[in-house]
Amino acid sequence: MHVLAFKELRAHYQVVAVCDVDEQRAIEVAGWLRGVRAVTDPAEIWTAADIDVVAICTPPGQHRLQVEAALRGGKDVICEKPLVASVREVEELAVIAAETGHTVMPVFQYRFGNGLQRLKALVDQGVAGRPYVANIDLSWRRGADYYAAPWRGRWDTELGGVLLGHAMHLLDMAVLVLGQPAAVWARVATLVNDIETDDSAAVTLRWADGSLATLSATLGSTVEISRHRFTFEHLTAESGIDPYTNSFEPWQFTATPGHEDRVADALAAHQPGTEDYIGQFERYAIARAAGEELPVTLESARLMLELVTALYVSSREDREVTLPLAADDPALGGLAP
Ligand SMILES: NC(=O)c1ccc[n+]([C@@H]2O[C@H](COP(=O)([O-])OP(=O)(O)OC[C@H]3O[C@@H](n4cnc5c(N)ncnc54)[C@H](O)[C@@H]3O)[C@@H](O)[C@H]2O)c1
Repeated sequence: MHVLAFKELRAHYQVVAVCDVDEQRAIEVAGWLRGVRAVTDPAEIWTAADIDVVAICTPPGQHRLQVEAALRGGKDVICEKPLVASVREVEELAVIAAETGHTVMPVFQYRFGNGLQRLKALVDQGVAGRPYVANIDLSWRRGADYYAAPWRGRWDTELGGVLLGHAMHLLDMAVLVLGQPAAVWARVATLVNDIETDDSAAVTLRWADGSLATLSATLGSTVEISRHRFTFEHLTAESGIDPYTNSFEPWQFTATPGHEDRVADALAAHQPGTEDYIGQFERYAIARAAGEELPVTLESARLMLELVTALYVSSREDREVTLPLAADDPALGGLAP
């Protein structure tokens, strides 16, 4: 996905090398563009003089050390989700980034769908009014073929289950609009696959202003959908249900009587941007060139890992967990049970 996005964004990126420890895979992906070298040793990437930015999309358990190696090699880094295994590890990377003067951008490409971006604009402009309730559904399907990859389904290599690896995208979309919740209560289960990590969850979230949300997530759904529904004082916003692009249009916005004109004007004024990986990587290239804040920051990944940590703690201890977690909470050091 990364290489295909960079290919579309040739005004901003020139891909010079593709690294995979599987040589055939490296050669295949390098062949998608002209003049790209295939590499099997990541150390060659960290030290290559012709590389400014490294995009890491290896199994999650490798991210922590690879991001550090790239930063210390003088590269800026884009890294897939989940960035690392714990809040502490995000904080370590922030220190290394500051030391080296280089940056890390976590991938949260779902943020850049135009439907979600329109809702965010309405909320930021104060048009939506007070939030009441959000409903988040993740009904996806992952079976034996998916878990055949040896790194999947294990705490030490995948770092988490449906909450960390899948629902994190949909939670991030909600947090983009509503901010970080103040408290959560979760029940997490392994119901679908014979794996160490979780594949199903039911969650409630509460914000400081009293507003609420629910998330239900499963990797056992025959019909795949993702859905967000946000009920605000002045409007209701409902996403489409395409499982992997539900942040894209079409979204349905329905104004509360008396607020139709303001909602319609704000919706009409919104300018759509590029979406998905292309949307994130285009904004990244522009922000990086201008020395501006990146479209997704390490702080976003830290907040999201803290939220997911709180969900796992809540389920294991069968209690509500408030956020932020205490600075000395041992769960900040890792999610594995
Ligand atoms: N943002 C999203 O929507 C999204 C979607 C899918 C996957 N991902 C993430 O992307 C990452 C990769 O997932 P995937 O499904 O492509 O996995 P995959 O197993 O299909 O591919 C991983 C590749 O990394 C290679 N690899 C392993 N160790 C390596 C190393 N040390 N150096 C170089 N290459 C190495 C493997 O040979 C393999 O080709 C994971 O972090 C995953 O969570 C994100």
